[in-house]
Amino acid sequence: MITNTYRFNNVNEKNGKKRDVPVLITGGAGFIGANLAHQLMLQGETVIVYDNLSRPGSEKNLRWLADEHSERLKICINDIRNYNTIKEVIGNVKIVFHFASQVAVTTSIENPLYDFDVNVKGTLNILEAVRTSSVHPPVIMTSTNKVYGGLRDIPLKIKNNRYVIASNGYDEMGIDEMRPLDFQSPYGCSKGAADQYVLDYAKTYGLDTVVFRMSCIYGPHQFGNEDQGWVVHFLKKAIYDEDICIYGDGCQVRDVLHVNDLIDAFITGWNEIDTIRRNVFNIGGGPENSVSILELIDYIHELYGKKMIVQYAPWRTGDQKYYVSDVSKYNRQTGWYPKVNVRNGLDDVYNWVYQARNKDEHIIV
Ligand SMILES: NC(=O)c1ccc[n+]([C@@H]2O[C@H](COP(=O)([O-])OP(=O)(O)OC[C@H]3O[C@@H](n4cnc5c(N)ncnc54)[C@H](O)[C@@H]3O)[C@@H](O)[C@H]2O)c1
Repeated sequence: MITNTYRFNNVNEKNGKKRDVPVLITGGAGFIGANLAHQLMLQGETVIVYDNLSRPGSEKNLRWLADEHSERLKICINDIRNYNTIKEVIGNVKIVFHFASQVAVTTSIENPLYDFDVNVKGTLNILEAVRTSSVHPPVIMTSTNKVYGGLRDIPLKIKNNRYVIASNGYDEMGIDEMRPLDFQSPYGCSKGAADQYVLDYAKTYGLDTVVFRMSCIYGPHQFGNEDQGWVVHFLKKAIYDEDICIYGDGCQVRDVLHVNDLIDAFITGWNEIDTIRRNVFNIGGGPENSVSILELIDYIHELYGKKMIVQYAPWRTGDQKYYVSDVSKYNRQTGWYPKVNVRNGLDDVYNWVYQARNKDEHIIV
């Protein structure tokens, strides 16, 4: 599996990074948080996982982390909306990876107040706690490609089961950070507002904050469902021989990034915090790792012999027909680039889901 062979960057010990001072990961029991916590603890860091376990599957990730690293793991089951608790925790950490979030567009449409509360108020709580602490740890926050809206001005055509850019003048490198913000859906608004607060706390208060605007991330320990985490969702459906539903025509394209590459981007960013601070970066698999939903379904058929029965439903609000990240800004500043190709990444997730099923640990939650 990739997870065992991938060569991660090591956390360097400059910038006064004392091993006994913990790293805080909000949303640390979620998919991305658990993967980062695992890698940091393997490297000798102490990690505080701060999570309210609202995401189905997060308690399984927490159990996995506790089994693997009982000594280095500190757990705080709490909500980022509780300012007093988060303030107390932030008083003694060396960096904050802020991942806790309401993560689904669908949920945000059903319950925009809740979405706002968690994503905007929760993020502001973290920034305020950092600003008023005596140590001001750096904050790396995960935003989303959704802040760029529907991207309807980019002319597209369909070619072989995917949307492609239809005319010259639009960069095949993908979408860069100069793209104007254009929030759509309450989730787009709340993540976008939080993203802007994080950047503003750097401008107004001089904090060392960084925003990653991420495309589609996939990998082990992702409890993907129809609303979020579609690569894993489709693989699970294939393995469990269940039908799938595609919203839209299935030609929509995303660049996908294996979680190990993302973890490496976080560790690289932490090592280079003096270079990257007060900046925003688009992070994804880039043009070489872009795939449409129909192509992914074909891959799954080709690679694993699984033919899925597909139902179609209307497009969902805010869904982009084409989004591919231009990751060259982050590459120029840190040297980071995605290393796991889609084929190897899919194998990794397939094995994870398959092994869990064989151990009778139901992945569908
Ligand atoms: N996975 C992706 O493809 C992707 C893409 C773009 C952006 N992101 C962002 O990355 C971050 C992590 O995403 P993920 O895929 O790991 O999601 P996830 O749902 O697996 O993890 C989020 C975690 O946050 C916790 N949480 C939710 N609300 C909370 C609250 N109020 N207080 C404390 N904890 C809370 C959940 O229990 C969960 O464990 C999110 O900010 C998400 O918006 C993810």
